[in-house]
Amino acid sequence: MRLGIDFGTTRTVVAAVDDGRHPIAAFDEAREFRDYIPGIAALRGGELLVGWEAARALPEASYAIRSIKRAATELSPDDPVPGLPGVTALELVTAFLAEVRRAIVEQSNLEVEGPLEAMVAVPASAASRQRWLTLEAFRRAGFEPIGLVNEPTAAAIEFAHRHLDLGKRSPKRYVVVYDLGGGTFDASAVSLEGRRFDLIASEGLARLGGDDFDELIVRAAGAEPTAAALERAREAKETLKATTRKLVVDLGGEPVTLDTAELYASTAPLIDRTIAQTDLLFERLRERGIDPDDPRGLGGLYLVGGGVGFPAVGRALRARFGKKLQLAAQPFAATAVGLAIAADPGAHVMIREALTRHFGVWREADAGADKVFDPLIGKNTPVDAPLVVQRRYRPAHAIGHLRFLECGALDAAGQPVQDLVPWRDVYFPYDPALADRGDLTGVANERRTDLTANEIAETYTCARDGTISVVIENTSRGYARSYELGALR
Ligand SMILES: Nc1ncnc2c1ncn2[C@@H]1O[C@H](COP(=O)(O)OP(=O)(O)OP(=O)(O)O)[C@@H](O)[C@H]1O
Ligand SMILES: [Mg+2]
Repeated sequence: MRLGIDFGTTRTVVAAVDDGRHPIAAFDEAREFRDYIPGIAALRGGELLVGWEAARALPEASYAIRSIKRAATELSPDDPVPGLPGVTALELVTAFLAEVRRAIVEQSNLEVEGPLEAMVAVPASAASRQRWLTLEAFRRAGFEPIGLVNEPTAAAIEFAHRHLDLGKRSPKRYVVVYDLGGGTFDASAVSLEGRRFDLIASEGLARLGGDDFDELIVRAAGAEPTAAALERAREAKETLKATTRKLVVDLGGEPVTLDTAELYASTAPLIDRTIAQTDLLFERLRERGIDPDDPRGLGGLYLVGGGVGFPAVGRALRARFGKKLQLAAQPFAATAVGLAIAADPGAHVMIREALTRHFGVWREADAGADKVFDPLIGKNTPVDAPLVVQRRYRPAHAIGHLRFLECGALDAAGQPVQDLVPWRDVYFPYDPALADRGDLTGVANERRTDLTANEIAETYTCARDGTISVVIENTSRGYARSYELGALR
């Protein structure tokens, strides 16, 4: 059977493909129906618990973390998870998804048959290693992943399905998705044409979400942000209404009463950052000749993610974007439903994603500056055809030491500034005398002014699946090396 699974920071939501419908799975949990599984992990007597069981064990667990996704995606797959001794990032996500699988099979209202084929998603701002880890963990947990989509693209599919009569000709050309989840914020523009969805541009913050509001609440209450305290704060936060003036938080000791006006003032800088990213996205649209203020083109600013339920968020968005806003009917489930629609062969959805991260290289500077960043492949480049990028130059060092990295944004000077993740380093012998040396890592790299007769050519290829390789050649002397660098999707 086919599923859309939104592995979320706070809530993992599952939607099924069922004869043209896409119902959300309900889990029979301690005799109550729940429409999600919480991203909580705990160690109790050496045993790793995840999901609802971990949530129940929070008070007595020796170690516990919440927001499994956020914790794991800040790490490399084999890194130990801080706060959970003996567990690596990949093991943690695998254990969690195995529990999701078990709950689908044993505890849900879905009629499960055959292999579980899952359309899965990551935040648009996710780094490549997070994409890899997510897919790998789904496989190890016993799912058959059939595709990996950016979360806001999935939400746009749900939007089109619900509001635009998917497949019919519609005058609306695109939708901007504002997704404030537990751990991440994404703003993405997706164009809609019949059943075709193209990610046009995306901005986001890999580390901003409802979790940060919870932490502000715990601090305002004068407590330490333990997993248990943060969960209590989250529960209190979710009771807030636009008219609430006082918020009582019970973190285990004496209940503390917080003034909501003060709380909202403290969250304002976080909310402003999401609005700045959304403005930046509108700017990207204008650069492409699309006017976001023209209601004939914009299908709306579609609000998804549980975080849009926070009263101060709704208020700030209304003040800034007014009539453009469209609140999702089920903000926390839009992504999962969109994934199920994308997984549904009967819906005939076509998706074209774009790169959501910049890829480039730090090079030795000729003089003066320490290193210079060369942005090789820019964010928002469509990836439906292989991409080739070339560089030619004359070397000023014995060895080319290239430090590759990806990032979420470049500043005005073209420097990488957001969510930097290093890739591998590559060493290439510019000096023909070193052409036959295998390992160059230990060789001293001196500045050389006598190599300018040599021309170096770098040819990068980004395949449709995002895999990037480079061939570096000394074209004057006719030797070359090639390197597989990794995948940017
Ligand atoms: N009524 C509400 N008021 C305020 N905040 C809410 C409300 N309902 C949910 N939230 C918050 O929304 C966040 C969870 O949203 P959601 O379920 O969309 O995130 P997620 O998909 O788990 O995370 P991510 O997409 O970042 O991985 C949590 O911080 C939660 O406390
Ligand atoms: Mg989400």
